Amino acid sequence: MTSSPYSFLQHQQSARNAQTATAWDHFASHRTQITNQLRGIVGRCVGRHALRMCVLGAGNCNDLDLLELCQLFAQLTLVDIDRSALQAAVARVGLEASDQIEIRAPLDLTGLSPEFAHWSECLPTPGVVKSALERLRGTSQLEVLSGGFDVVLSSCVLTQLIDSAQRAIGEDHEEFFDLLSALRLRHIEHMLELLRGDGVGLLVTDLVSTDTWPGMRELPIEQLPQAAAAAVRDKNFFSGVNPSVIYHLLKNHPTLSAKISQVTPISPWIWDWGTRAYVVYGMQFRRSAHG
Ligand SMILES: C[S@@+](CC[C@H](N)C(=O)[O-])C[C@H]1O[C@@H](n2cnc3c(N)ncnc32)[C@H](O)[C@@H]1O
Repeated sequence: MTSSPYSFLQHQQSARNAQTATAWDHFASHRTQITNQLRGIVGRCVGRHALRMCVLGAGNCNDLDLLELCQLFAQLTLVDIDRSALQAAVARVGLEASDQIEIRAPLDLTGLSPEFAHWSECLPTPGVVKSALERLRGTSQLEVLSGGFDVVLSSCVLTQLIDSAQRAIGEDHEEFFDLLSALRLRHIEHMLELLRGDGVGLLVTDLVSTDTWPGMRELPIEQLPQAAAAAVRDKNFFSGVNPSVIYHLLKNHPTLSAKISQVTPISPWIWDWGTRAYVVYGMQFRRSAHG
């Protein structure tokens, strides 16, 4: 792999993607959930034609039924730090020559790959993380994309962005929370930047896995929302993805709420892929027509 500003995170993420590259069958129920959500969104886009969707963190596209999505959308833009994963995913379903699909990779959604590389060797002293975040403020990692999308899907990438921060400086670092908060906020801002007025963002994220909640598979599905809420109360969830915090950000954060007209939480589901299962949930929001 050639050296680029993204090399550090590219290596990290392509190693992970390689482990799930052939896991298409294991993603079936999760893929169905996401496809159903997207079908619902498209069904409500009455009067609009030639819809365009952007997917952040598309990777192996195991959670995307690309063939069906090409029926729903006139154009799909797939974004990831791992270009080979996207290329292989598109080729797997025979769409490599399709002009409906645009691959935008490698793109680093954190904008901090060189810093993460450096910090993982030499922990940043107090103030260093804040200065890096200051430098990043007001810049966009996605300005190369044209924007104006009808739908933007973030597909289980937020926990990966936060995990990269955890690996770089550790949760106990005094600036970890600032870093996590900035990455989360920036990610939602990216989604809004990419959406046209009245377009819909669908933020899907893994919440907790069987590593810390081994009994989740036995739970009757109708009990999952309450049980997931109890897990969150017990602080048993991945850092940075508390559904109430994300809902509150979308509704009340000054730079976000001014651009959002509607927020709809989506009930959790279980994504079981054999060796491990996850509780996953979604948050759907609409960009204001004039925000
Ligand atoms: C858990 S996977 C999502 C599942 C994926 N959609 C699939 O079906 O295989 C997270 C994806 O986010 C990508 N990713 C992680 N960190 C990233 C970053 N900093 N910038 C862009 N993409 C990133 C990974 O390469 C990976 O493809």
